[in-house]
Amino acid sequence: MYRSHTCGELRSDDVSKTVTLAGWVARVRDLGGLVFIDLRDRYGKTQVVFDPADNMELANEAKRLRSEWVVRLSGIVRNRPDDMINAEMNTGEIEVKGTEIEVLASCETPPLLPEDEFEPSEEHRLRHRFLDLRRDKMQKNLKMRHVLLQEVRKHLSAKDFMEIETPFLTQSTPEGARDFIVPSRIHRGKWYALPQSPQTYKQILMISGYDKYFQIVRCFRDEDLRANRQPEFTQIDIEMSFVHQEDILNVTEGIVRAIFENVMEKPFPVSIPRISYDEAIKRFGTDKPDTRFSNELIDLTDELNGHGFGVIDNVVKKGGGAVALKVPGKSKASRKEISILEDFVKERGLGGLMPLRKSNEGVWSGPLGKFIPHKVLDELAVKIELGSDDLCLVAADKTMRRYEVMGMLRLKLAKSEDWIPENMHELLWVTDFPLVARNEEEDRWEALHHPFTAPEPDSWDEWIKKDPLRIRSQAYDLVWNGEEVAGGSIRNHDRQMQEKVFELIGMDEKVAKERFSFLLDALQYGAPPHGGIAFGFDRLVMLVAGLSSIRDVIAFPKTTAAVALFEGSPGKIDQRQLDELGISEIKSSE
Ligand code: AMO
Repeated sequence: MYRSHTCGELRSDDVSKTVTLAGWVARVRDLGGLVFIDLRDRYGKTQVVFDPADNMELANEAKRLRSEWVVRLSGIVRNRPDDMINAEMNTGEIEVKGTEIEVLASCETPPLLPEDEFEPSEEHRLRHRFLDLRRDKMQKNLKMRHVLLQEVRKHLSAKDFMEIETPFLTQSTPEGARDFIVPSRIHRGKWYALPQSPQTYKQILMISGYDKYFQIVRCFRDEDLRANRQPEFTQIDIEMSFVHQEDILNVTEGIVRAIFENVMEKPFPVSIPRISYDEAIKRFGTDKPDTRFSNELIDLTDELNGHGFGVIDNVVKKGGGAVALKVPGKSKASRKEISILEDFVKERGLGGLMPLRKSNEGVWSGPLGKFIPHKVLDELAVKIELGSDDLCLVAADKTMRRYEVMGMLRLKLAKSEDWIPENMHELLWVTDFPLVARNEEEDRWEALHHPFTAPEPDSWDEWIKKDPLRIRSQAYDLVWNGEEVAGGSIRNHDRQMQEKVFELIGMDEKVAKERFSFLLDALQYGAPPHGGIAFGFDRLVMLVAGLSSIRDVIAFPKTTAAVALFEGSPGKIDQRQLDELGISEIKSSE
């Protein structure tokens, strides 16, 4: 045995025991003769003391140890003197009086010191990930990830869910991103796609009778990356048969409740509010509202229209309107401050931003003050509770973009004005999504979730001929602190309905058969009504840990440029491999 105890284990009960610890040297302190070594492993740190009065040679050897060397230290546990007790360390009551040192591995001067309080740049951390992962913060994050994995597996297994693995070398699975593709050596000219999610497989499993499925599974999507997106990420993927939307929401809430109560040790909200997609867009400008703060968008179309102010009247004539956002306490914002905010909305496609506030003399100022009767503005101020200290920002546009951009402005101001309370966890269901969205570039409808999502039957009947944009689907997203943490839907379990949806999104019969014949065929052989959901597991861990980047909860993440700095992927492959795959020409971007 290399060690008798870990570095986080010893307490005063262990006093007088002879112990052997192994780990990394966190710190060497030479205090007037006594040499203190803090030895670290993933369980904690233990102080080991070498006294030259006992053994000069050994104390000198201890002095020569350096940070991040791997050593094995033996000695006898003793209580620390009262004034040396360190309540911050789990082993802070004791220390080990060192009697033996064995160097297991030395360490060159490390490019990143795990004990440094200073946070290195992310690039530096990712390049030297093996050292970064030694840091306390990263060890805590990965531990949290492990605990959540176990909690979810335990919770779902206890509810009779079966964990079933599905293939990685597969056909394209449409989730709205590009596929990562893998060439086949055996079948030259043919390609596998890595799954964007196990969506089609889990539906097949329902048809095969595995009525409660889950899988903690890696998904692969070639899309533009952001702080909360990775090209490969993990889902808690769930599918159930003989269920309605309500059943899936209940199971999902059960998982979150278990996480709140058993992992976060926080009371679970009595109920998770639900809002429709339309309401989310109008109140927050996004389908993933951050509800930790209340400042919502305000529709002022009715109030501001019809007073002869062209900017407003013209957009209303074209079916648009005016949206406002209150900025409490900012009535004195300077022209420059406002023009920075105006540039922000202009860069995102709006024509401008009109401040609405009373001047020092108590008169409504700005373009709105000039064109809208002051009586109207006074009434409006009462209605939206606009105090004399507050600023109101108004944008008018003929498209729905006005909500979207003002929603972005809301989030920008939330950060700069400090509207977001710390340590808060706000959950929200968004439901009644449209079935399709318009893909302007390709001039066609596309599935808003994925093409297997079932429409609300009544809205399908009502709108399919008149206005497909108004067809609602049986899809739902769970939003946590403004992050989409899970999304799912009830599926089409009837082949005809599935074919109609394919047709609506412009997938002709031949393509549908080519790509999804396995699913379409299976739907003819006794498909139960079914539906499901998938959590973005990395996002879930990030939220539970109170972090803001999923890269901090993934051991070996990619950068936002989709590069693995540590392993150096993507990399080149040699000609022999290409020849074997029958790939002759590579157009390199370098
Ligand atoms: P969806 O595409 O909404 O649904 O994905 C489910 C959840 O996965 C997370 N997620 C991501 N996390 C990190 N990096 C990414 N690139 C990324 N993309 C998505 C999000 C999202 O809510 N098959 C359906 C689920 C279903 O219908 O049951 C699906 O994959 O948190």
